[in-house]
Amino acid sequence: MTISVFIGTSVDGFIARPNGDLDFLPPGGGEPHGYDEFMASVDALVIGRKTFETVLTFASWPYGHKRVVVLSSRPLDLSAARGGIVEQMAGPPAEIVSNLASRGVHHLYVDGGITIQQFLRAGLIQRLIITRVPVLIGDGIPLFGTLPRDILLRHVATQHYPSGLVKTEYHVVV
Ligand SMILES: NC(=O)c1ccc[n+]([C@@H]2O[C@H](COP(=O)([O-])OP(=O)(O)OC[C@H]3O[C@@H](n4cnc5c(N)ncnc54)[C@H](OP(=O)(O)O)[C@@H]3O)[C@@H](O)[C@H]2O)c1
Repeated sequence: MTISVFIGTSVDGFIARPNGDLDFLPPGGGEPHGYDEFMASVDALVIGRKTFETVLTFASWPYGHKRVVVLSSRPLDLSAARGGIVEQMAGPPAEIVSNLASRGVHHLYVDGGITIQQFLRAGLIQRLIITRVPVLIGDGIPLFGTLPRDILLRHVATQHYPSGLVKTEYHVVV
């Protein structure tokens, strides 16, 4: 199984404002920068409960008919994901990954700051695709957090776009 991250951040590394607002990200995801192609390559998503709560505020369910696993240790009302294929899981990331692998998932998209950090710490993420939006917001929810050890990355490619988006792909080395 390949596990990837595809996420937008401010240049100072935040994925949302402290209150969860995403207003600093370009509307509608900004100019095309590979998200649709990436999504087409994904079999399933794992998102944190806080990201789930954010997407429930969107006008429509953003993941189409992709299988979405919401991680939470508390009861959730999944029926709020109108039209989505959603289930809930909890527990160690390695167990979640082996469960999904046994059900035929080959490419998994992990999203949400705390969730990404957990999967990184567990050594489960192979690809990071980070698109920096040209803004500093000073404070917010960070993409990355503390680590028990360094995680070495190999730079694969960087593309820049006329609107100022800069997309960089890294592969996790160890
Ligand atoms: N810029 C972007 O592209 C982008 C992308 C995604 C999200 N965001 C934003 O980021 C914010 C959310 O990120 P976040 O870091 O605050 O949180 P998050 O990762 O979305 O959610 C964290 C929550 O997920 C649950 N969780 C995670 N791992 C778990 C596990 N192994 N077992 C059980 N539950 C687990 C826990 O929920 P419980 O507390 O319920 O147990 C935890 O509190 C939102 O504002 C969202 O809009 C931005």
